[in-house]
Amino acid sequence: MDTHEAAGVELPYPHYECPSCRKELPLTEARMTVTCAEHGAPSRKARAKVRDARVTDRGAIEEICDRVWGETDIDAFGRTFDVLAADNIIAEVDGEFAGLISLAIDHGELAIVVLSVYPDYQGSGIGTTLLDAAANRARDRRLPSVKVATTNDDIPALYFYQRHGFVMYEIEAGTVVDHHNAVLPGFAGIPVRDEIRLRRSAPCE
Ligand SMILES: CC(C)(COP(=O)(O)OP(=O)(O)OC[C@H]1O[C@@H](n2cnc3c(N)ncnc32)[C@H](O)[C@@H]1OP(=O)(O)O)[C@@H](O)C(=O)NCCC(=O)NCCS
Repeated sequence: MDTHEAAGVELPYPHYECPSCRKELPLTEARMTVTCAEHGAPSRKARAKVRDARVTDRGAIEEICDRVWGETDIDAFGRTFDVLAADNIIAEVDGEFAGLISLAIDHGELAIVVLSVYPDYQGSGIGTTLLDAAANRARDRRLPSVKVATTNDDIPALYFYQRHGFVMYEIEAGTVVDHHNAVLPGFAGIPVRDEIRLRRSAPCE
């Protein structure tokens, strides 16, 4: 969940990019459009390499967390996860850091603590590749499922995870408001209030 440093103050870094004009989009300025399957955001087909994070990736991991959340401690599932101590998998395109999936075991399931792709690389299959890497990690560790927590405003994430077979199983209503003691503006300015938890089964061996 987003943890703005001060209530009502939006993080300045753009989370998205307009697929039509390539304008950088802070969270509250992003909008959704419904299209047919053929006319969605054009795929840029970046060729990403996915690998386990190394000690030397620490700075890049801190930077992407800082840009998305403002910190590397992430609150979800009723606890705080330290991304720097988590199981981190990185996507690179031509040697450039493009995205991160950060994983931790929580109550016997593999929890996605962070999944974030830099705006330049979104829509090119990197999020899907990182999600597949997480599913394989759950299978290799014989964990039954992969779970993720997002927020009520995050329509792109709710779309993305459900398109990949995740099913909502729990809503912690109002928990984000309680956490910040304020109602913060999220995607497209939608008030961020609730934590929505989704899960899907890990693939079989
Ligand atoms: C949600 C997210 C992980 C998806 O990753 P991605 O690499 O863009 O996703 P993929 O290319 O694998 O999949 C694209 C699918 O997800 C959907 N999608 C969700 N968010 C999208 C985005 N921002 N751009 C393009 N497609 C997006 C597409 O509609 C597409 O669905 P379809 O298969 O039905 O056409 C990514 O958009 C993201 O990181 N969002 C959070 C914002 C963020 O952290 N930004 C970085 C700030 S530094």
